[in-house]
Amino acid sequence: MRKLTLCVIAAAAVAAYSPSVSADNLRVASSGTELVLKAEKGKELKIVYFGAPIAASDAAQLRQAGSAGLPAYPAYGLDCPSEAAIAVTHADGNMSTQLLTDSWKQYSADGASFTEVLLRDSYYPFEVKLCYKVWDDSDMIETWTEISNLGKKPVTLREFKSVCLPIRRGDVWMSHFSGLDWADECHLTQEPVTPGLKVIKSREGIRNTRFAHAEIMFSLDGKPQENSGRTIGAALCYGGNYELKIDTERFDWHTFFAGINEDNSEYKLEGKETFTTPVVALTYSDEGLGGVSRNFHRWARKHRLAHGETLRKILLNSWEGVYFDVNEEGMDRMMADIASMGGELFVMDDGWFGVKYPRSQNNCGLGDWTVDTQKLPHGVPGLVECAKKHGVKFGIWIEPEMTNSISELYEKHPDWVITSPNHDVVYGRGGTQMVLDLSNPKVQDFVFGVVDNLMKENPELDYIKWDANTSMLMHGSEYLPADRQSHLNIEYYRGFAKVCERIRAKYPDLTIQACASGGGRVNYGILPWFDEFWASDNTDALQRVYIHWGTSYFFPAIAMGSHISAVPNHQTYRTVPLKYRIDVAMSGRLGMEIQPANMTEEEKEICRRAIADYKTIRPVVQLGDIYRLVSPYDGHNLASLMYCSEDKSQAAFFWWKLETLKNDHLPRVRMAGLDPEKSYKVHELNR
Ligand code: DGJ
Repeated sequence: MRKLTLCVIAAAAVAAYSPSVSADNLRVASSGTELVLKAEKGKELKIVYFGAPIAASDAAQLRQAGSAGLPAYPAYGLDCPSEAAIAVTHADGNMSTQLLTDSWKQYSADGASFTEVLLRDSYYPFEVKLCYKVWDDSDMIETWTEISNLGKKPVTLREFKSVCLPIRRGDVWMSHFSGLDWADECHLTQEPVTPGLKVIKSREGIRNTRFAHAEIMFSLDGKPQENSGRTIGAALCYGGNYELKIDTERFDWHTFFAGINEDNSEYKLEGKETFTTPVVALTYSDEGLGGVSRNFHRWARKHRLAHGETLRKILLNSWEGVYFDVNEEGMDRMMADIASMGGELFVMDDGWFGVKYPRSQNNCGLGDWTVDTQKLPHGVPGLVECAKKHGVKFGIWIEPEMTNSISELYEKHPDWVITSPNHDVVYGRGGTQMVLDLSNPKVQDFVFGVVDNLMKENPELDYIKWDANTSMLMHGSEYLPADRQSHLNIEYYRGFAKVCERIRAKYPDLTIQACASGGGRVNYGILPWFDEFWASDNTDALQRVYIHWGTSYFFPAIAMGSHISAVPNHQTYRTVPLKYRIDVAMSGRLGMEIQPANMTEEEKEICRRAIADYKTIRPVVQLGDIYRLVSPYDGHNLASLMYCSEDKSQAAFFWWKLETLKNDHLPRVRMAGLDPEKSYKVHELNR
């Protein structure tokens, strides 16, 4: 769609950021979200307000009303029946902690404003710093804690959440996301918050989960609405085991906790050591679920996603086209085909490596990152040259933090895998796959080396698809000492983070896709190092409408790989028209996952036109604000959403039928996000 006229509307007045109302009422605020803490030296820190920004006079009234507030970071020991954010066994065996406010400061740096409140135990040399970082441009409060043992002897952290947020009881609903394992990702569940404890968690060990997502929204005004209603959004930014808990017990409050999942992960904190918990990103909107999504997308693009404001290339991925049947001639042909359709990048998927154990099926070769010259006589450099000849960029698949029992790597380093010595091994994908022990610095070097070696050999490599297809199925590290085995999950993720930091420091411009298996394929813990994610192996356009819908609540379209594939679809065996497949794929980061050699000239021509059209709407889809209009879950045989450019001069509107019924009446869809003072010209794509 193109704009016809443009008329500028002044932005609504916003509350100015005020760092602090009084010495004991700390405002942590952006123009759209505000948290008020009641800080009094020597007393427990309280949360007295979270929601839309309040005027300074209201904040003062909160104080005058003597609002008691609720504990900002409840510690176990002084109110044992309630859920706690932190539980510690001190050096003398005492299991109780009493955290009292010591001091606080507020300052600005690097475009954000910070609040830090220091809490100290009333007896032990133990303190917790609550940290808040506010992004005004996206109404996001990032919060985390720094837990320090100031004593000489170790203490044990039994619980160590990142955040505790009380939510006043009423008709509160939650929206959360999960997959029934592989190929059914990001299913939306909406349910009222009821008495009892609701736990959403991962114990998969690695950076993705097979089931649930670590993001949640709370609708405070009853059943969740897309574009109205007071709504809170929270995303735990962590790629390891996590836990979201919503506790509704006595009294007038639900209490939300988010952080690392402490199950089998109690942490010995050495004397003088500080443990930093992962960030939880919190936002609030009066504009319903959609308002929260728009805040998250803006924050992601500006602050949390690698290259979040750079348009993504249109690619062809080889997986569904050839699976493991990789060879030079075939790759060359696919590159020529995607180039001829206007694509910009070709990605060679699994199957290109392995000498002793050539990777021609999924049960061998992981870890042996040497090109299979039987398949690719001129190696990866030969393919990079080929891509150049065709005028496209080249990308490659790896799965570096995994190995197979049938691999040279495992033969050389059986001690590098996560397993329980003395027990039978439990294998993952292909009946042979295992996770490498990233707590071990040698393994970290190896994983870094996989990327580094590829890049040193092929400096023009543009893109890496980084896969992960097996969870940590056993608990055991040959690297960690016996009394630190419970640190495995935490050290594994620290090792992964170190590798990613090294890669990004050396190769800041490389595009990296996070790929994985199953339910929760992405989280905001890993996105600073990754440009995008492969939303699902299910490429069936109809099921993708649901998968994209769920994904869009927290993750922006620019990061959501979304490909046109063949029919019958390889996962659901369904046949839907090419137009439909294109219309769905165009709502994310467009790509193709197909063997072009099997397409007719007419189909290629349709794709060529679609790619050209996508280039015209790419900035709106990838950088615009999302408005979800009709949910596929609402039973209208329809789903619809749109993206609007920030200045509201352009929009891309999507409308998908979910079933073909003869003479079915389809409801009209009311658009959102447009400027009523502007006139817009409608231009239909993919007719
Ligand atoms: C799982 C991924 O999701 C697929 O796209 C593909 O890369 C395979 N792994 C390769 O083994």
